[in-house]
Amino acid sequence: MAARPIIIDTDPGQDDAIALLLALASPELDVLGITTVAGNVPLALTEVNARKVCELAGRSDAKVFAGCARPMLRPLVTAESVHGKTGLDGPDLPAPTMPLQPEHAVDWLVDTLMAAADGSITLCPLGPLTNIAMAIVREPRIVPKIREIVLMGGGFFEGGNTTPTAEFNIYVDPHAAHVVFTCGARLTMHPLDVTHKALMSKAWIDSLGKLGTKVGAAAAAMLTFYERFDMEKYGEDGGPLHDPCVIAWLLRPELFGGKECAVRIETGSELTMGQTVVDWWGVTGLEKNCTVINRIDSDGFYALILERLARL
Ligand code: BDR
Ligand code: CA
Repeated sequence: MAARPIIIDTDPGQDDAIALLLALASPELDVLGITTVAGNVPLALTEVNARKVCELAGRSDAKVFAGCARPMLRPLVTAESVHGKTGLDGPDLPAPTMPLQPEHAVDWLVDTLMAAADGSITLCPLGPLTNIAMAIVREPRIVPKIREIVLMGGGFFEGGNTTPTAEFNIYVDPHAAHVVFTCGARLTMHPLDVTHKALMSKAWIDSLGKLGTKVGAAAAAMLTFYERFDMEKYGEDGGPLHDPCVIAWLLRPELFGGKECAVRIETGSELTMGQTVVDWWGVTGLEKNCTVINRIDSDGFYALILERLARL
């Protein structure tokens, strides 16, 4: 079967980095390009981090683009407290030598989608949705070209991780999220409701280190740094590994379960700004626009990541 063409939009971020490694290690996926956005840390760092991860994976041929440096309307909020000053604290990765692509990520998204067949390209946003929304606003004719948008973001029964009601990616650019959630493309969302059900164990992180490879050592170092924050915050033995859920779902959808719902984004209330309002019980009569994932086979998920990262 031909590899599935995907575009990863990302703000690395250690969990973004593992998602990138998982995708680059998987022959079922054809990563057409990696577009970067401001989020966990400013754009100048996320684009460098994406290139570092591609080089770590031995994929300096991958195309990395820099996109939007700030959200559509609101000031940028970053998450150095989680990801460290560089966004990718933990391993000591060399400065990348592969080039950043000259095109702006939004231009490249528009050009690539417009040149594609209808329903052919899957978008995988792992950060704030600014680039994707800007591309849709600039050229709405890209929407029918999208096979589906599979994103990490939001939280409903689980609440938020940045405010009591909002998850980081949606909170940072709720207006972009609104554009994406109302654009008409097929959507699958991996919210905190699923990512918080699959916590990393120390033994699993150690098994990455024991792969005896550069990738294994770097992944173990980044995740050891990254999970300390959530372990303290939630008082659990391990932290969630959000973004790889998106890629794992593309590879092994049977590891996940969810429900099609109407989902809307709160942009009017400062108190609940960026909340993903999920009509789980179908009480609004609004059109269902998103598959909301809330179940995961945690052992299968972590086994898949280990098996794939071992290939790099
Ligand atoms: C999301 O926010 C970021 O900190 C992570 O990379 C993930 O995409 C989780 O709320
Ligand atoms: Ca992310």
